[in-house]
Amino acid sequence: MPIKFKKSDKTFILTTKNTAYAFSVECDRYLVHQYYGKKTAAFKRYEPYVVSFSPYLKEAGNSWSPDIFPQEYSFFGSGDFRTAALKLKGADGTGVTDFVYRSYRYINGTHEIEGLPQARGDEDTKTLEIKMADDLTGCELLLYYTVFYEEDVITRHILIKNKGKSAVKIEKCMSMTLDLPSCDYDLITLWGGHVDERNYQRAPLHHGVQSICSRRGASSHQYNPFMAVCDQKANEEKGDVYGFNLVYSGSFLDEAEVDQTERTRVQLGLGEENFGYTLLPGEEFTSPEAVMTYSSKGLGQMSRNFHNFTRNRIMPKKALKPHPVVLNTWEACYFNIDEEKLLRFAEESAKVGFDMLVMDDGWFGARNHDRAGLGDWYVNTNKFKNGLAPFVKGVKQNGISFGIWIEPEMINPDSDLYRAHPEWVLAVPGREPSLSREQLVLDMSNSEVVDYLIDSFTKTFEGVPVDYFKWDANRHLCDIYSPTLPADRQDEVPFRFMKGVYRLLKWFEEHFPDTVIETCAGGGGRYDLGMMQYGFQIWTSDNTWPYARVWMQRSSLLAYPAATMSCHVSNPGEDMKSLDYRYKVAVGGMLGYELNILNMTAPIKEEMARQVKEYKSFEHLVRLGDYYCIACPFLSDYSSYYYTNEDRSEILFSLIEKRSAKKGVTKTLKIKEAKKGVTYVDLLSGSKYTGEELRAGLVLPLAGEKDTASLMYFVEEKQ
Ligand code: GLA
Repeated sequence: MPIKFKKSDKTFILTTKNTAYAFSVECDRYLVHQYYGKKTAAFKRYEPYVVSFSPYLKEAGNSWSPDIFPQEYSFFGSGDFRTAALKLKGADGTGVTDFVYRSYRYINGTHEIEGLPQARGDEDTKTLEIKMADDLTGCELLLYYTVFYEEDVITRHILIKNKGKSAVKIEKCMSMTLDLPSCDYDLITLWGGHVDERNYQRAPLHHGVQSICSRRGASSHQYNPFMAVCDQKANEEKGDVYGFNLVYSGSFLDEAEVDQTERTRVQLGLGEENFGYTLLPGEEFTSPEAVMTYSSKGLGQMSRNFHNFTRNRIMPKKALKPHPVVLNTWEACYFNIDEEKLLRFAEESAKVGFDMLVMDDGWFGARNHDRAGLGDWYVNTNKFKNGLAPFVKGVKQNGISFGIWIEPEMINPDSDLYRAHPEWVLAVPGREPSLSREQLVLDMSNSEVVDYLIDSFTKTFEGVPVDYFKWDANRHLCDIYSPTLPADRQDEVPFRFMKGVYRLLKWFEEHFPDTVIETCAGGGGRYDLGMMQYGFQIWTSDNTWPYARVWMQRSSLLAYPAATMSCHVSNPGEDMKSLDYRYKVAVGGMLGYELNILNMTAPIKEEMARQVKEYKSFEHLVRLGDYYCIACPFLSDYSSYYYTNEDRSEILFSLIEKRSAKKGVTKTLKIKEAKKGVTYVDLLSGSKYTGEELRAGLVLPLAGEKDTASLMYFVEEKQ
């Protein structure tokens, strides 16, 4: 059983393949965190002690201060002065609660989070439900722990039921608290901006609260919800690492607080700044799901745990099949598209061997530039004279499939939809809402708006054989107000907005069961587990400059599998070396192309055809294999990694130089997972290597040729 309750010391023990997690009931009321780490039967239990200025209840005694003991979930105002997970305001207006442990039960499978994405369970999945209650507000709090045994992951979320007689307001809501017994850790987070997503940041924890958050209504380019806390000496292969994430795509808060006792509190959730929620008597609220993993084998194992978990439990099952190699029209044409041109694109794409033509922005309404048309989801008949269906059939006559771009949540003021329904945008009455990329945001918290979009897309795509949607979102939320809610409930809008987005995504999934969705938010502005549940991959960044992609892809892989990472070769001009470099960078994820195929020379097209064929011979390793980072481009002059299958009979590895690489410097690429006593053949060059040679490392000189130097090997065990 992965979940046990030991009656003798009232301890819950959750186990995964390699980890254990424990907490106990103390003083018949408190939930005290005891252990999270390597699987062991003998962990050191917390011993209570007295600390002055830390309050306690008479019945529990002065050594049991909520300010000091490690909590399973933390509350505002009743003696714990550290950052709280829950602030709930009842009729007395104080925000003080005193949730006390009541009972537990086991659930087979998961506990459903209504309206939000969450990890998928199976017949072996088990969930622990813990019930706590606060007498004065009459609220019940349920803590959920789902154990994903094979993936070494535990997920958590909470549910609050208002069983009292008055309304309560949730003012801060975190999905989890984890109080770790030390503070000698580094904190790893990913920060960025548009065209600059997911930079790697690692710094020692210090006293006080360190946090990252999004206040943007999207998980954002600026901070990714992933966070790790690790030994200060932890590297790719060694050291204790705790990894965290959230299955949610809206505003969030991740915090780590080092307290007076030199322990660390980690919390992830919705936070308080951009969130509030009123529960009337009888109503309930469920938080998004938080994800935790522990690795005793450094960052690499943490990443692989997250990769397995995301592939097995988050991504749609159809995302595990080979992804189409697409030709996308955006960087080739921008808004300048029409039927005739794209049919020629389709014809040329088929000749090269691309699987799909993706028609990006510009096909609908008056969308001739980014100042008009968003919201008007009907085909522009100046560009597509016969409508969508005959055009798409024309594309498909070439034997390739078809994808199309949409941006459902957004609207240009210059659109028929805005003229008809100005009240459907997020805007505060009496104030002019700010534009971003010339657009406003639709009020997705209003079910009428979502219903309208469903109706509109139903009509537009009726009888159009679309295989793929690229779902974009090109601005963040401000001036947030919805006429559907009273003044004192406006802080619910961002959360309800995300629920509206998920409802529409779910509708797409159900209404177009054979299509796949690539999500995008001005590149990787919603590169999160929430989106990954619906999308089969995510557009990594609007920055397709391969040099920048080298580090962006590396940091994305820290938390997310390559199967989610959409990577395009953009215009190489006539430069064959540049094409080669771009390709070798892009094959680290799901390969696609984004260039004007009509302008490409015959040798470039031939080379692309060769690349697509070659990629298909090893893409299963990228999509499903285990990822090992040899050299991180944030720390070295080059990037090097490999993907390998379960029995290590196939390995794809590469070395990609950065601009700063110096000619002649040699680097040793150690493929430590290669098997001893076997010979591997490089299917790309024909060279042979023993497993021992690969493990000891290939010694390779750097070429120092700026953005063109890269090496790639695809070795297979010789039978
Ligand atoms: C965003 C996307 C791009 C492209 C444009 C179209 O920037 O990230 O890939 O689709 O929108 O407007």
